Amino acid sequence: MRLDKFLSQYTDYSRSQIQQLVKAARVTVNGEIVRKADNKLRGDEQVRLDDQLIQAFSNRYIMLHKPLGYVCANNDSEHPVVVDLLAVPRKQDLQIAGRLDLDTTGLVLLTDDGQWNHRITAPKQECAKTYLVTTAEPIHHDVISLFAQGVQLHGEKHLTRPAQLDILNSHSARLQIHEGKYHQVKRMFAATGNRVVQLHRESIGNILLDSQLAPGEYRPLTETEIQEALQ
Ligand code: URA
Repeated sequence: MRLDKFLSQYTDYSRSQIQQLVKAARVTVNGEIVRKADNKLRGDEQVRLDDQLIQAFSNRYIMLHKPLGYVCANNDSEHPVVVDLLAVPRKQDLQIAGRLDLDTTGLVLLTDDGQWNHRITAPKQECAKTYLVTTAEPIHHDVISLFAQGVQLHGEKHLTRPAQLDILNSHSARLQIHEGKYHQVKRMFAATGNRVVQLHRESIGNILLDSQLAPGEYRPLTETEIQEALQ
C-alpha cells in the first residue's frame, strides 16, 4: 500500500495534508525520514508521524449502554447522539447494529465491520433481541399466546414473527423478538390496548449487556462475543 493511502486510512489527515506532513519531514518509516508520499509499504514497517507510531486499525466492535435521551445515529440536529458518548477516532465510520428509540435504554452495538453488522441486523438472520418492558396497564395473560402466534401491526402486511413473552409482574415483562420493525415492541403492546412506558434492551443474539456498564458507558466486545454473536 502507498504511504499516503496508509496514513489517510489510519489517521484523520487528508491526502493533501499528508503531502504537507511528508514535505515537512514529519513522517518516518523504520526510523528514516521519508521524502515521497507515494512510497510503497510492504506492510511490516513502523510508520511514525511526529514520533507517534501509526497502527493499522482492525475492525472495532463496541457494546454501549445507551442512556435515555440519546439518538441512535451519527448526527442529529436536536438531540445528543450515541457516538457522542464514545472517545474513539473515526466515529463517522461506526455503524449502529440495531437502533433504539430516544426513550429506550440498554444494549447498542457499534461496529465498522459492515458484514458483521449485516449478519446481526439482516431480517433473514432472525437474531433474537430481549427487552424488559414496563407498561401503563396490567399485562393480560392472553398476550403470551397472542405474541407467540404473531400480532397484526398497523400498516404491516404480515403478522409479527412468534415472540416469547415472560410476564414478571402485573406491569412488567421480558419479551424476546426475532425481528426489528420500527417501534416494534411499543407497537406490539399498543396492539393489545396497552402502552409501553419503559423499554430496556438486555441482549442481542448471544451478547448480553454487561452489568458493569452504567448508562453511557461502553467497552469493546470480547473475541468470543464477536464470534458467537449469532450462534
Ligand atoms: N421496539 C421499540 O418499540 N423501541 C425500541 O427502541 C426498540 C424496540
